[in-house]
Amino acid sequence: MKFLNLAIFLVIFSFSYSQDPTDKPEPAGEEQAQSSGEEINGDAAHGYDLFQQSCIACHKIDGDMVGPPLRDVVARVKEEGGVGRQWLHDWIKDNNALRASGDKYANEVFEKYNKIPMLTFPNLSDQDIDDILAYTSDPEGGEKAFKEAKEKKAEESAAAAAPAESGSSTTGIVIFAYVFLALLLLFTLFRLNTLKKLLSGKTDVPAEDKPGFSLAQFIHKYNKAFNVLLAAFSLLALYGLWIFMFGIGVDKGYQPDQPIYFSHQVHAGVQGIDCQYCHSSAKYGKVSGIPSPNTCMNCHKMIKEYKGEYFEEDLVKNGKFASGDDVKNFYTGEIQKMYAAIGWDPDQAEYTGEQKPIEWVRIHNMPDFVYFSHEQHVVAGEKAILNAIKNKTIPNSKELNLPEDSQVCFACHGDVSKMDEVKMANDFTMGWCVECHRTTEVDMTNEYNSQYYADLHEKLKKEYGDHTKITVDAIGGLECAKCHY
Ligand code: HEC
Ligand code: HEC
Ligand code: HEC
Ligand code: HEC
Ligand code: HEC
Ligand code: HEC
Repeated sequence: MKFLNLAIFLVIFSFSYSQDPTDKPEPAGEEQAQSSGEEINGDAAHGYDLFQQSCIACHKIDGDMVGPPLRDVVARVKEEGGVGRQWLHDWIKDNNALRASGDKYANEVFEKYNKIPMLTFPNLSDQDIDDILAYTSDPEGGEKAFKEAKEKKAEESAAAAAPAESGSSTTGIVIFAYVFLALLLLFTLFRLNTLKKLLSGKTDVPAEDKPGFSLAQFIHKYNKAFNVLLAAFSLLALYGLWIFMFGIGVDKGYQPDQPIYFSHQVHAGVQGIDCQYCHSSAKYGKVSGIPSPNTCMNCHKMIKEYKGEYFEEDLVKNGKFASGDDVKNFYTGEIQKMYAAIGWDPDQAEYTGEQKPIEWVRIHNMPDFVYFSHEQHVVAGEKAILNAIKNKTIPNSKELNLPEDSQVCFACHGDVSKMDEVKMANDFTMGWCVECHRTTEVDMTNEYNSQYYADLHEKLKKEYGDHTKITVDAIGGLECAKCHY
């Protein structure tokens, strides 16, 4: 009975709570509601997706990054600060406002993490935040559910022969094409065979008796030559197939149109914005990530139109626009398009709440069985790669006068600061990874390597003398399991 009372109380309480969140209930009530655990009804799979988009730059599930680890954060903030769901919502939406309101725990957390301000997320809905919180309570489940749903979707789109976007759907289409070709070939061979049989049956008719030209006679006469020709054609077809198979997954030059014409040349080139300002997670983990709209708004709350000198002359040359001014107007239009997507009213300087996520088309995408980590290359491997650029052992590198932070990116992505639209600058195949690992000398002076490979280093020195080059393959860069799950 006690339990029933409590349940009724909770229902009423949470109702009044959602009616007016600013109307704080009595402290006693708050405690009771929280100690029995405010239910967070969220979709952990969607939460995983949002987390990857917005939070991964600064938070890990386990372990400190820029911000605290977020596994079971609901339980943790309750334990450490005695706060609950509403606090988390307020914090995530606008931690600045919450801190400014004098909230004690918010200020404690801020102090504890060296006063690094967290971004604000005014455009996340309450449901979005509940979804993220649900994910933090069950990270493994959320990730699994998300990936399963994604796979299902990919399968469906492969079945519908949708434009090839993900590796798996391309493979599907290719396999389908092969089966089709193989059947066609079998069918042709079969027909030829019948024709040949038919002809050999007819050989009792003296060929000379037939007047004029006959195909049958012709083939009969040149039977050997015909067979040779057939064999040659088959070989050619096989060769084509081989070349084609090798081309699978090689997307060098891939440059899709994006929903908003975002120019890297304007941002990274002309404005000199550091790559890692926007792709801030490269340092911390597997993915570089695409900046969330909030990152754009850090600047674009102020920058409402394009007033720069630079414009792409090619767009005028190829007749897309009549003049440079038209191109600049187009750029301004794209900024407005971004506002519309984010749900920002530039005149009123406020969020309208109406948003439509910007669906950037993913350009680089390794198959799921490949493990690639930016951190390994951008942090541990940074110096090695920069040295290799200087010594010109990395293919494709040019003379670059840009900050080192960016140069390391260019080793693989090409000079993005000169690309208006990003384009795949390398093959991104296994051969390409391995080639660089074979030729790039590891930087044995960095903290990580000098600790981990001290023994190896000594051994190699003894064996080959002091000037041995230790390339990435020597530390395991060619081991299958390092790159494959
Ligand atoms: C730019 C980096 C950054 C991003 C992006 C970011 N956070 Fe944070 N977050 C922090 C920092 C730093 C703190 C620690 C408090 C402080 O210094 O402001 C923090 C604190 C928190 C806390 C309080 C945890 C505690 O222990 O009390 C929560 C909850 C949180 N973040 C959730 C999120 C969520 C959810 C997202 C994604 C929607 C997100 N954060 C995105 C940097 C970030
Ligand atoms: C102002 C923010 C910003 C800066 C600065 C920036 N980028 Fe980007 N980057 C983006 C956005 C947004 C996208 C997604 C749209 C696109 O592909 O153009 C992107 C996409 C990319 C991609 C393709 C991602 C994919 O889908 O595979 C690469 C590679 C990339 N950036 C590298 C760089 C490098 C290298 C630099 C530094 C020279 C840099 N970026 C600077 C915002 C930025
Ligand atoms: C660090 C500041 C900064 C950030 C972050 C930033 N921009 Fe910009 N953006 C600029 C500046 C500066 C210009 C050029 C304005 C001028 O020259 O008048 C610009 C121009 C633009 C333009 C017009 C030129 C073009 O590239 O087509 C668009 C569109 C744009 N930004 C979109 C975005 C988007 C989308 C994001 C987030 C992914 C973003 N910006 C993030 C500073 C920034
Ligand atoms: C050693 C080569 C290498 C270096 C160096 C490198 N990248 Fe990448 N980058 C890749 C590969 C490979 C992928 C595809 C990863 C995948 O699909 O899992 C990628 C993907 C990306 C993406 C798409 C989103 C993602 O994370 O999958 C962005 C954005 C990006 N890189 C930006 C950068 C920036 C910015 C730098 C420099 C700080 C950089 N990269 C340095 C190889 C590299
Ligand atoms: C531009 C050169 C370059 C390219 C291209 C490159 N790598 Fe690397 N990679 C390095 C360097 C340098 C290191 C060594 C980092 C260190 O010192 O720990 C490294 C280390 C690694 C490691 C860790 C090896 C170990 O034993 O700890 C893995 C895994 C890896 N790379 C995967 C890849 C994959 C997958 C690709 C292709 C998608 C790739 N790399 C492309 C330069 C490159
Ligand atoms: C330096 C990283 C790296 C190492 C080491 C590596 N691979 Fe790969 N492997 C890749 C990448 C990246 C791809 C995906 C290439 C693509 O999508 O075009 C790949 C693809 C493959 C494929 C699929 C081929 C295809 O065309 O899709 C097989 C099979 C494979 N690797 C086996 C191996 C074996 C066996 C080893 C050990 C001898 C190994 N790999 C070592 C990076 C690596």
